Amino acid sequence: MNRQLRIVILACALLPAASRIHAQLLHNAPAPEPVKPAEQVFKNIQVLKGVPSDQWRATMQFISSSLGVECEFCHTRGAFDNDDKKPKKIARQMIEMQMAINKNNFICPPPIRFSINISRPWVAPRP
Ligand code: HEC
Repeated sequence: MNRQLRIVILACALLPAASRIHAQLLHNAPAPEPVKPAEQVFKNIQVLKGVPSDQWRATMQFISSSLGVECEFCHTRGAFDNDDKKPKKIARQMIEMQMAINKNNFICPPPIRFSINISRPWVAPRP
Protein backbone atom coordinates (compact mmCIF):
# COMPACT_ATOMS: atom_id res chain seq x y z
CA MET A 1 0.00 0.00 0.00
CA ASN A 2 1.47 3.32 -0.90
CA ARG A 3 2.15 5.94 1.72
CA GLN A 4 -0.49 8.46 0.62
CA LEU A 5 -3.25 5.85 0.66
CA ARG A 6 -2.22 4.80 4.17
CA ILE A 7 -2.45 8.40 5.36
CA VAL A 8 -5.92 8.77 3.80
CA ILE A 9 -7.17 5.55 5.45
CA LEU A 10 -5.72 6.61 8.81
CA ALA A 11 -7.35 10.03 8.49
CA CYS A 12 -10.73 8.42 7.70
CA ALA A 13 -10.43 6.16 10.72
CA LEU A 14 -9.56 9.00 13.07
CA LEU A 15 -12.03 11.55 11.73
CA PRO A 16 -15.15 10.37 13.63
CA ALA A 17 -13.25 10.33 16.94
CA ALA A 18 -11.76 13.72 16.27
CA SER A 19 -15.12 15.26 15.40
CA ARG A 20 -16.68 13.72 18.52
CA ILE A 21 -14.00 15.31 20.70
CA HIS A 22 -14.50 18.57 18.87
CA ALA A 23 -18.27 18.44 19.39
CA GLN A 24 -17.74 17.68 23.08
CA LEU A 25 -15.40 20.63 23.47
CA LEU A 26 -17.92 22.87 21.75
CA HIS A 27 -20.78 21.54 23.86
CA ASN A 28 -18.94 22.00 27.13
CA ALA A 29 -17.66 25.46 26.28
CA PRO A 30 -19.36 28.00 28.55
CA ALA A 31 -21.98 30.15 26.80
CA PRO A 32 -20.61 33.61 26.01
CA GLU A 33 -21.63 36.27 28.53
CA PRO A 34 -24.23 38.68 27.11
CA VAL A 35 -22.78 42.16 26.66
CA LYS A 36 -24.01 44.56 29.32
CA PRO A 37 -25.42 47.94 28.38
CA ALA A 38 -23.20 50.93 29.20
CA GLU A 39 -25.34 52.09 32.14
CA GLN A 40 -24.63 48.81 33.95
CA VAL A 41 -20.88 49.11 33.48
CA PHE A 42 -20.17 52.83 33.83
CA LYS A 43 -21.14 55.15 36.67
CA ASN A 44 -22.74 58.17 35.07
CA ILE A 45 -24.62 57.30 31.89
CA GLN A 46 -27.63 59.55 31.44
CA VAL A 47 -28.43 59.69 27.73
CA LEU A 48 -26.61 56.90 25.92
CA LYS A 49 -28.40 54.12 27.77
CA GLY A 50 -28.54 50.85 25.91
CA VAL A 51 -25.28 51.28 24.01
CA PRO A 52 -23.48 47.94 24.34
CA SER A 53 -20.59 48.41 26.76
CA ASP A 54 -18.15 46.63 24.46
CA GLN A 55 -18.76 49.40 21.92
CA TRP A 56 -18.36 52.26 24.35
CA ARG A 57 -14.74 52.98 23.58
CA ALA A 58 -15.40 52.99 19.83
CA THR A 59 -18.38 55.28 20.45
CA MET A 60 -16.24 57.75 22.38
CA GLN A 61 -13.46 57.54 19.80
CA PHE A 62 -16.03 58.22 17.10
CA ILE A 63 -17.20 61.34 18.95
CA SER A 64 -13.61 62.49 19.55
CA SER A 65 -12.41 62.00 16.00
CA SER A 66 -15.57 63.54 14.54
CA LEU A 67 -14.85 66.68 16.56
CA GLY A 68 -11.08 66.48 16.13
CA VAL A 69 -10.47 66.56 19.87
CA GLU A 70 -8.90 64.33 22.53
CA CYS A 71 -10.84 62.67 25.34
CA GLU A 72 -9.61 65.42 27.69
CA PHE A 73 -11.69 67.94 25.81
CA CYS A 74 -14.70 66.54 27.68
CA HIS A 75 -13.14 64.42 30.42
CA THR A 76 -10.71 64.66 33.25
CA ARG A 77 -8.39 61.69 32.69
CA GLY A 78 -8.90 59.00 35.30
CA ALA A 79 -12.33 60.39 36.25
CA PHE A 80 -14.44 59.85 33.15
CA ASP A 81 -17.68 59.82 35.14
CA ASN A 82 -17.13 63.39 36.41
CA ASP A 83 -19.27 66.10 34.90
CA ASP A 84 -16.73 68.80 35.69
CA LYS A 85 -16.13 69.91 32.09
CA LYS A 86 -18.63 72.04 30.22
CA PRO A 87 -18.10 70.34 26.81
CA LYS A 88 -19.25 67.01 28.29
CA LYS A 89 -22.47 68.59 29.50
CA ILE A 90 -23.00 70.29 26.15
CA ALA A 91 -22.26 67.03 24.31
CA ARG A 92 -24.93 65.36 26.44
CA GLN A 93 -27.44 68.09 25.59
CA MET A 94 -26.68 67.74 21.89
CA ILE A 95 -27.07 63.96 22.02
CA GLU A 96 -30.44 64.47 23.73
CA MET A 97 -31.44 66.99 21.08
CA GLN A 98 -30.46 64.57 18.31
CA MET A 99 -32.44 61.79 19.95
CA ALA A 100 -35.51 64.03 20.18
CA ILE A 101 -35.20 65.06 16.53
CA ASN A 102 -34.96 61.44 15.47
CA LYS A 103 -37.81 60.34 17.72
CA ASN A 104 -40.19 63.09 16.64
CA ASN A 105 -39.44 63.25 12.94
CA PHE A 106 -38.69 59.82 11.59
CA ILE A 107 -41.71 57.63 11.64
CA CYS A 108 -40.61 54.62 9.72
CA PRO A 109 -40.73 51.03 10.85
CA PRO A 110 -38.65 50.17 12.83
CA PRO A 111 -38.43 53.55 14.59
CA ILE A 112 -35.06 55.12 14.00
CA ARG A 113 -33.59 56.41 17.19
CA PHE A 114 -30.26 57.87 18.03
CA SER A 115 -27.58 55.30 17.57
CA ILE A 116 -23.87 55.56 17.19
CA ASN A 117 -23.45 51.86 16.98
CA ILE A 118 -20.70 51.99 14.39
CA SER A 119 -20.66 48.36 13.37
CA ARG A 120 -24.44 48.18 12.93
CA PRO A 121 -25.67 51.77 12.58
CA TRP A 122 -29.18 50.68 11.66
CA VAL A 123 -29.72 48.86 14.97
CA ALA A 124 -31.32 51.16 17.52
CA PRO A 125 -30.28 50.61 21.14
CA ARG A 126 -32.95 49.01 23.31
CA PRO A 127 -34.73 51.55 25.52
C1 HEC B 1 -17.45 65.77 23.04
C2 HEC B 1 -17.34 65.25 24.38
C3 HEC B 1 -16.72 63.90 24.64
C4 HEC B 1 -15.51 63.43 24.22
C5 HEC B 1 -14.49 64.11 23.31
C6 HEC B 1 -15.34 62.11 24.85
N1 HEC B 1 -16.41 61.82 25.62
FE1 HEC B 1 -16.61 60.24 26.86
N2 HEC B 1 -18.45 60.90 27.45
C7 HEC B 1 -19.07 62.03 26.95
C8 HEC B 1 -20.41 62.12 27.50
C9 HEC B 1 -21.46 63.19 27.18
C10 HEC B 1 -20.55 61.01 28.35
C11 HEC B 1 -21.80 60.64 29.17
C12 HEC B 1 -22.83 59.99 28.26
C13 HEC B 1 -24.17 59.82 28.95
O1 HEC B 1 -24.45 60.46 29.96
O2 HEC B 1 -24.99 59.01 28.43
C14 HEC B 1 -19.29 60.27 28.31
C15 HEC B 1 -19.00 59.16 29.07
C16 HEC B 1 -17.80 58.46 29.04
C17 HEC B 1 -17.47 57.34 29.90
C18 HEC B 1 -18.35 56.75 31.00
C19 HEC B 1 -17.89 57.28 32.35
C20 HEC B 1 -18.78 56.82 33.50
O3 HEC B 1 -18.31 56.01 34.33
O4 HEC B 1 -19.93 57.24 33.55
C21 HEC B 1 -16.23 56.91 29.54
C22 HEC B 1 -15.45 55.73 30.13
C23 HEC B 1 -15.78 57.76 28.47
N3 HEC B 1 -16.75 58.69 28.19
C24 HEC B 1 -14.56 57.62 27.83
C25 HEC B 1 -14.11 58.47 26.83
C26 HEC B 1 -12.87 58.28 26.12
C27 HEC B 1 -11.88 57.15 26.37
C28 HEC B 1 -12.77 59.31 25.23
C29 HEC B 1 -11.69 59.53 24.20
C30 HEC B 1 -11.46 58.47 23.25
C31 HEC B 1 -13.97 60.15 25.38
N4 HEC B 1 -14.76 59.59 26.35
C32 HEC B 1 -14.23 61.30 24.67
C33 HEC B 1 -18.52 62.98 26.12
C34 HEC B 1 -17.29 62.87 25.51
